[in-house]
Amino acid sequence: MIPNKTVEEILTVARVEDVIEDFVTLKRRGVNMMGLCPFHDEKSPSFVVSPTKGLFKCFGCGKSGTAVGFVMQHENLTYPEALRYLANKYNIVVEEVEVSEKEREIRQLSDSLYIINDFAAAHFNTNLLNTDEGRSIGLTYFKERGFLEKTINHWQLGYAMKEGRVMSKEALIKQYKVENLKLLGLTTQNDNDFFRERVIFPIHNLSGKIIAFAGRILTNIKTQPKYLNSPESEIYNKRKNLFGMFFAKGEIRKNDECILVEGYTDVITLHQGGVENVVASSGTSLTEEQIKLIQRFTSNITILYDGDNAGIKAAIRGLDLVLQQDMNVRLVLLPDGEDPDSFFKKNGTDNFKKFIETNKKDFIGFKTDLLLAEHGNDPIKRAEILRDLSNTVALIPDPIKRVTYIRELSSKLEIDEKILNGEVEKEVNKRKKEWANQLQRDKIREARQNSDNEVIIERTEDQVSLRPVEVNPDILQEKNLIRLLVTGADKYIENQEGPTVSEYLLPILEDYLDYFEDPTSKKIVEYGLHKIKLGEKVFPSDFINNTDQDISQISVDYTMSKYEYAKWEERGVYLQTQPMPEKNFKKDTYQSILRFKLHKVKKDLKEMEILLKSPDITDDQKIIDIQVLQALLKERNDIAKELTQIIY
Ligand code: CTP
Ligand code: MN
Repeated sequence: MIPNKTVEEILTVARVEDVIEDFVTLKRRGVNMMGLCPFHDEKSPSFVVSPTKGLFKCFGCGKSGTAVGFVMQHENLTYPEALRYLANKYNIVVEEVEVSEKEREIRQLSDSLYIINDFAAAHFNTNLLNTDEGRSIGLTYFKERGFLEKTINHWQLGYAMKEGRVMSKEALIKQYKVENLKLLGLTTQNDNDFFRERVIFPIHNLSGKIIAFAGRILTNIKTQPKYLNSPESEIYNKRKNLFGMFFAKGEIRKNDECILVEGYTDVITLHQGGVENVVASSGTSLTEEQIKLIQRFTSNITILYDGDNAGIKAAIRGLDLVLQQDMNVRLVLLPDGEDPDSFFKKNGTDNFKKFIETNKKDFIGFKTDLLLAEHGNDPIKRAEILRDLSNTVALIPDPIKRVTYIRELSSKLEIDEKILNGEVEKEVNKRKKEWANQLQRDKIREARQNSDNEVIIERTEDQVSLRPVEVNPDILQEKNLIRLLVTGADKYIENQEGPTVSEYLLPILEDYLDYFEDPTSKKIVEYGLHKIKLGEKVFPSDFINNTDQDISQISVDYTMSKYEYAKWEERGVYLQTQPMPEKNFKKDTYQSILRFKLHKVKKDLKEMEILLKSPDITDDQKIIDIQVLQALLKERNDIAKELTQIIY
């Protein structure tokens, strides 16, 4: 258990935009910030962060929450785990109180793989720094490569001993489960250490946890692979990870550029030299997931590959994928025989940066030059080149960008712009169907944003239409009232002498608790009542930061209404013209509660009428029922009258 005092401290310190910016690039839009949603696939941003409200919401997929909620959903953590993550980020000491045995076990289980990796990294690091073998073999190697001590510490580099089971034995003494060690690939099926006599590079995920290792051989034995890599596991998905991203993401965002290299050592050398917006694809060609990972921080990729043929081929393979994602790709080829690591060491930081700036080539331009240089004189090959490049240009989603490329290509290939345009259009048309699907998805998203109530989306071959969900009107009405209660909790209805919205609504709603149909709405009322009875004021944050996740989630949704969204003129979206609900608390409060009461009375009336018509009703009962009926009728009329008297 984390003490309340600490929870409060964490909640105050953890600014939602600051927490989210570790994972998503946000741009300011008026009072809010926007970015590409990390929870679903999208090309134009619908992910909104409101620093003033301390909340985020994606208007595309609907995910929303607080800073804690973000960490929970993004990192797949429980509430206490997310709090601990934030405490760690902000250096807040969590003094745990009374952790139950069961809780400890659960946490142990969910964290155990990370814990084992942490142990292994520490073990390898100790080998490197504090054993004779590690120092003479591993540390010497790193020093020869020019890695400074602070670099070794920063990247938590290590060394795996020659002898067969050093790491595994120590792990077992520490009571780590051998199944888990095997799951992570640290221990082989024969109970040996997987990494032996290699220097070790830990691989971190986006939030800095160690998810895998790479071990580099130190000899020239050609029968063994140069690198051994951890297998995929519950916590390691190769396709989704880029080496160095955790350490690079801040600089990538700042520079609005991601430099992509091939090797672990390239990344480390460049970071050490002060070029920190660098990550590695680890020798394989880029995956879509990796591109999306980069896209969260920037849309500019500079690929820095060895000048040899393999490097170029690898780069070209990655290109189409990147273009499709609407990223800007530039390429720098290093002189033959150099990799970024060696080139950087020869030239130093400033010359390196200068070289990149002057040799950056737009990828399509690069591909054109390359193909022309290879086969430019052969007319048949030229036709092939033309088709090849048209296909590449056709991949670019942005038509304006396409036009620019067509112009450039036309001059390079000495082909009429119209012909080239025709070729590209042919290819674009082929893709139209694909794009139509994408368009449909966009439309659905937009419809969701525009719609007041829940809607059902109906799709036919070429049309998307909406029809309101038949929602229980009682629930809708309840929800409206609760929305008001949550968002206006601390607002005074008339003036500071009178009650706040919550002080006014809650005691009335208490009488209707049994009528509530939506369980979360009921829980919210109960929670508010509980606070009021303790003599405490009720704030929106009480609901938003509620430990009950249902309460918290719905309150976030109510608070992050689309009214805010309407203000993003930048997107050219004007969704709503009605005034913000905040301006109408007075009218809304009186009106909503009266409507709510009226609805309930009408319901009671109907029931009464049915009861009265029942054939086996006794005369005595009838008299009582008629009295009740009359009271209800009076109540109904009173409410109706009151409703008409509200001055707008
Ligand atoms: N790689 C790998 N397995 C191999 C060889 C290479 O996973 N057997 C990956 C590694 O991520 C490596 C990258 O491909 O970092 C580039 O390979 P290479 O240039 O050979 O390795 P470097 O890391 O540059 O190693 P060094 O500079 O020490 O030669
Ligand atoms: Mn290298």
